[in-house]
Amino acid sequence: MKIGIIGAMETEVSVLKEAMKVDTVITKAGMNFYEGMLHGTPAVVVQCGIGKVNSAMCVQILADLFHVTHVMNTGVAGSLNADLDIGDILVSEKAIQHDLDVTALGYALGQIPGIESREFKADAEMAEAAVAACRRVNTDLNVVKGCVVSGDQFISSAEVKEHLIKEFHGDCAEMEGASIAQAAVLNRIPFVVIRAISDKADGSAEMDYPSFESQAAEHCAKMVLEFVKTFHAN
Ligand code: ADE
Repeated sequence: MKIGIIGAMETEVSVLKEAMKVDTVITKAGMNFYEGMLHGTPAVVVQCGIGKVNSAMCVQILADLFHVTHVMNTGVAGSLNADLDIGDILVSEKAIQHDLDVTALGYALGQIPGIESREFKADAEMAEAAVAACRRVNTDLNVVKGCVVSGDQFISSAEVKEHLIKEFHGDCAEMEGASIAQAAVLNRIPFVVIRAISDKADGSAEMDYPSFESQAAEHCAKMVLEFVKTFHAN
């Protein structure tokens, strides 16, 4: 087993890099890949930068250069689910790219022509282990399994939020999970996304995000550490 752990921002990976026994650092496509041991598990930790292109490129590098067996995405997200408050955790069951629109040619919103479903399914075993790890770390927080919707947009309006709920039944909105999911699925690598809620993806997001981003990001990384401690792939 070798797990690739991706965060878009430094705050999303710094806790992991600190906990890691780093053997090598390799720079590729402007991303620094830290390879070593994380609580006894071979791992590669990387900050990919914001958005779907950066994050998809990152997965391909993890596949081709590092031969990772699992991919995990950690970070923050805007809540689309009334049960998910700031600080709560969403673990992916599936991920969809909400800004992919070929509906004019008869495809479902979010569907990529040539790929049967718009939904990329997370690995059930990883998702289950991630939920259990989150519950062990903090019993007070709500941990929900659900749908991550991703696009190259920061969501900060009630109308767009409603659209994402109505069209995709999304539970959280962010900017990398579904492209990581697509790249992982195309490479036949099991993946899961774990996100801590930093804002409500509506008019309050512009205020809340800067206040809660680093706290939520670090908190999510701690969940990832607990996952790595206990998850052992067959
Ligand atoms: N990441 C954290 N909050 C977000 C939001 N509201 N939209 C997109 N990505 C986010």
